[in-house]
Amino acid sequence: MPRYSITTFGCQMNVHDSERMHDVLRRAGYTEAGGPEEADVLVLNTCSVREKAEQKLRSEVGRLARWKRERADRVVVVAGCVAQQEGERLLKQMRAIDVVVGPDNIPELPGLLGDLALGGLPVARTVFDLDAPRFLVASPSPSTRGAPTAFVTIMKGCDERCSFCIVPYTRGPERYRASDEIVAEIAALVAAGTREITLLGQTVNSYRDPLGALPRAPGASADDPDESEFAALLRRIAADVPGLARLRYTSPHPRHLTPSLVLAHAELAVLPRHVHMPVQSGSDRVLRRMIRRYTRAEYVARTRALVEAVPGLTLSTDIIVGFPGETEDDFAATLSLVREVGFKGLFGFKYSRRPHTPALKLPDDVAEDVKGARLARLFEESEALLAAHLSGLVGTTQEVLVEGRDKERGAGRERGAGGALWSGRTGRHEIAHIEGAGELDLLGEVVEVSIARANKHSLQAELTEAARAAARQQPRGGADAGRPARRSLPVVAAEGG
Ligand code: 5AD
Repeated sequence: MPRYSITTFGCQMNVHDSERMHDVLRRAGYTEAGGPEEADVLVLNTCSVREKAEQKLRSEVGRLARWKRERADRVVVVAGCVAQQEGERLLKQMRAIDVVVGPDNIPELPGLLGDLALGGLPVARTVFDLDAPRFLVASPSPSTRGAPTAFVTIMKGCDERCSFCIVPYTRGPERYRASDEIVAEIAALVAAGTREITLLGQTVNSYRDPLGALPRAPGASADDPDESEFAALLRRIAADVPGLARLRYTSPHPRHLTPSLVLAHAELAVLPRHVHMPVQSGSDRVLRRMIRRYTRAEYVARTRALVEAVPGLTLSTDIIVGFPGETEDDFAATLSLVREVGFKGLFGFKYSRRPHTPALKLPDDVAEDVKGARLARLFEESEALLAAHLSGLVGTTQEVLVEGRDKERGAGRERGAGGALWSGRTGRHEIAHIEGAGELDLLGEVVEVSIARANKHSLQAELTEAARAAARQQPRGGADAGRPARRSLPVVAAEGG
């Protein structure tokens, strides 16, 4: 039986696509190899959002040429956004590649590999499924069945035209999944033991039900062009899957952070108190050139409404530094926005020119060292905000969804994390390492902890006495024994301190 291995680069959508490739290959009779060295088929699921990510693929394929020479029947597949972007060209540029497959063509992968095995030529399939969009559901594998957290795709593609971004080119126009299908997938995951769902989409909150099956959400305006049906979908999921503990989503666009979505956050307990809301810049001049279609003041007003509706809600964001024409004043505006909003998490990137993007027409005129210095300054600011936030939580009580054992997840290596055995996330997405509970089976439980210390990027926590007593009474589950029947430990929603 041929063995395969998948290496994933890039965003959560790619991680999720890799799960679907695992599924498609397993169903076709392939088995997963222990690692790339043992594989017959090696899949690189690529990212092209920044040039660096694309360079990674090129150097990886260079290495693989040698790997291929060791055995004549070894196969290299390139999937994901570079595959979609470059298509046939990849086959010409890099002889080591046998199959190029776009994100919408994942189901065709076994067929393409089969043709190749019969002597077929290297092939590229990168066709968008515009007429009949498919949303593959990965059937649970031994490693994902009953996992505490799972992703569910609700839309794909992007109709925004942010001038820096290649995604509309690599993922095509927006296509939405029927709400009934979304709810059914979530219900099945929760029945199998999953506690937290993250809804995925390139502009996840522009969602509309293609079958028109959702009632208008409270607060939704009939004539606001930014109004989507995302809030209605959140309400439907909350009502139909009561066993779900947490419902997250990524990545939203600020344009669709409408009053109906704010109201959903105020009313639905299943929505945790953290939202990732990419802003990209704090300068109106730059935002206009980025074609983001909101002003700084609009971003501030919309996020402020959210925080007022859900006290204690934290925001994180994405920021690009060194966009064409960005001056020191523009960058200072970004720094001041970071302070004004008080982001508790920040992904920062140096602008990188991407093919097929409108910004190619603008000169990439901010020097590399200036971009580097601005990025360092930005991180300094965000690290300080995070440190203040985390140390402010010491002594408080929090609810943590336990996602795994530290040593399994490779977490807990942070200084001061010694002795921690379980780790997970608070409702606001802070990482928490739980000390001194190694003998208990906490996987997938929402437990009450008290925060003992703050690390640089995470928290050290201990179970409260009530949570410890409740956990002792909990029947121990085996690999997946008891998963569907799991109940939450008694928790209190209060946050002391
Ligand atoms: N250069 C730098 N960063 C980019 N991003 C998207 N395109 C580019 C680009 N050309 C960043 C944005 C986006 C995140 C996923 O990647 O901040 O939100």
